[in-house]
Amino acid sequence: MSTLMSPLAAELLRRIKGSDIRAGVIGLGYVGLPLAVELARGGYTVVGLDVDRRKVGSIERGKSYIPDVADADLAELVSADRLHATTEFAALQHLDTVNICVPTPLRKTKDPDVSFMVAAVEQVAKYLHPGMLVILESTTYPGTTEELVRPLLEATGLIAGRDFFLAFSPERVDPGNTQFHTANVPKVVGGTTATCAALASALYQPAIERVVVVGSTQAAEMVKLLENTFRAVNIGLVNEIAMMCDTLGIDVWEVVGAAATKPFGFMPFYPGPGLGGHCIPIDPFYLSWKAKQSGFDARFIELAGEVNGHMPHYVVAKITEALNASRKPVNGSRILILGVAYKRDIDDVRESPALDVMRLLREKGADLVYSDPHVPVLAPELWSGPRALESLTLDRGVLEACDCAVVLTDHGAFDYRLIAEHCDTIVDTRNALHGMNALHLVRLGAPVTAESLAAAAA
Ligand SMILES: NC(=O)c1ccc[n+]([C@@H]2O[C@H](COP(=O)([O-])OP(=O)(O)OC[C@H]3O[C@@H](n4cnc5c(N)ncnc54)[C@H](O)[C@@H]3O)[C@@H](O)[C@H]2O)c1
Repeated sequence: MSTLMSPLAAELLRRIKGSDIRAGVIGLGYVGLPLAVELARGGYTVVGLDVDRRKVGSIERGKSYIPDVADADLAELVSADRLHATTEFAALQHLDTVNICVPTPLRKTKDPDVSFMVAAVEQVAKYLHPGMLVILESTTYPGTTEELVRPLLEATGLIAGRDFFLAFSPERVDPGNTQFHTANVPKVVGGTTATCAALASALYQPAIERVVVVGSTQAAEMVKLLENTFRAVNIGLVNEIAMMCDTLGIDVWEVVGAAATKPFGFMPFYPGPGLGGHCIPIDPFYLSWKAKQSGFDARFIELAGEVNGHMPHYVVAKITEALNASRKPVNGSRILILGVAYKRDIDDVRESPALDVMRLLREKGADLVYSDPHVPVLAPELWSGPRALESLTLDRGVLEACDCAVVLTDHGAFDYRLIAEHCDTIVDTRNALHGMNALHLVRLGAPVTAESLAAAAA
């Protein structure tokens, strides 16, 4: 490959292969910090850039704020001068490569908010220099690298593929996943030119176990959106099946569990209180927005959004029914929310459906308390309440004092036997109490048992 390259590209490739480069990462959050750590472990000298002084300060003290990055690993890299962080973007002038990992949220109108990407790319443009490799990692609509990033960088007079190198490589990190992390999840790479892709691919080589090159930046952008749309649509499907099972008196958990024994052609997805996190509820709308620009209506995405968006309302209806069976209204009832993070065993509450359920219950006058071992405090704006709430430690007193407990996140640390033993009424949206002998249990997508009805009426 290097024989077909320009001298500028060949020189960068030679230096990447010799680990003789300074690599930059812009945006040091759930994606950027683990990536910066892997690049440093891979042998490069890494500089992380972020606008958040607290994050930068924390990294410099060797203190991680991302659960997937251990303090000891970070501290070791910082003290060995393999990794440093700064808020000074002038550092870019001394960097050979830069990976951009800034947020890509939606506006209230569900249109992409590209402002973080634009701000980061404008900083790169200020310090862009010949031979630099720029890789966008933020999840975004197909076409972003060529239509948005490239013109901003080429406004400097330097040309992509000739004077500097440009690629897109989606991040696929799954926070809290102990089996798969940044280093052992294959990395998809698409370049503005074949040389750009080859250089980006070489950069990841020592840090990531497998690199998969696709033919364009657009294809790489689309890969990520296919993956996340696949999840959103399948979760939407199983949520609809759960509501259907509820109506038909069938246990959806039993059905999905049995279907999952089929060794081919089926992949289990599980129902729940709605979508959460930074990716699945948001990314598919980047795709539907882009498709709409070309007059294409992304019907699966819209329908999945509708079904998944309805789930918090459905859960509140289940809570209302469960309380009603004990002749209690939601208004004034003490409801204990179990788990506010958007998924098991993590501390992230972004887009968490628990927050929607809490808002809806509060609107109905419920007296809300919560317990989440990973989220010690919930700020008022997060749960739409008048003050910050503190997580309660679960004990017999806390459980017996509530009229209804609602399992919204199935954290491993919860003692479900204790919960089953001491709560009058439980709504379980995750099947966390599966197989437990709780007489007063309503499970999402499963019929209420005769025992539960009898217990509630007693
Ligand atoms: N979190 C995930 O599970 C996940 C997985 C795959 C992909 N992604 C994608 O990766 C991207 C980043 O997500 P994240 O979860 O790491 O976000 P995050 O909010 O955890 O981190 C983003 C960081 O970027 C910083 N930042 C914002 N604007 C900046 C700027 N102009 N210059 C420098 N720093 C800036 C923020 O201060 C923050 O530290 C998003 O596009 C997201 O969709 C996230």
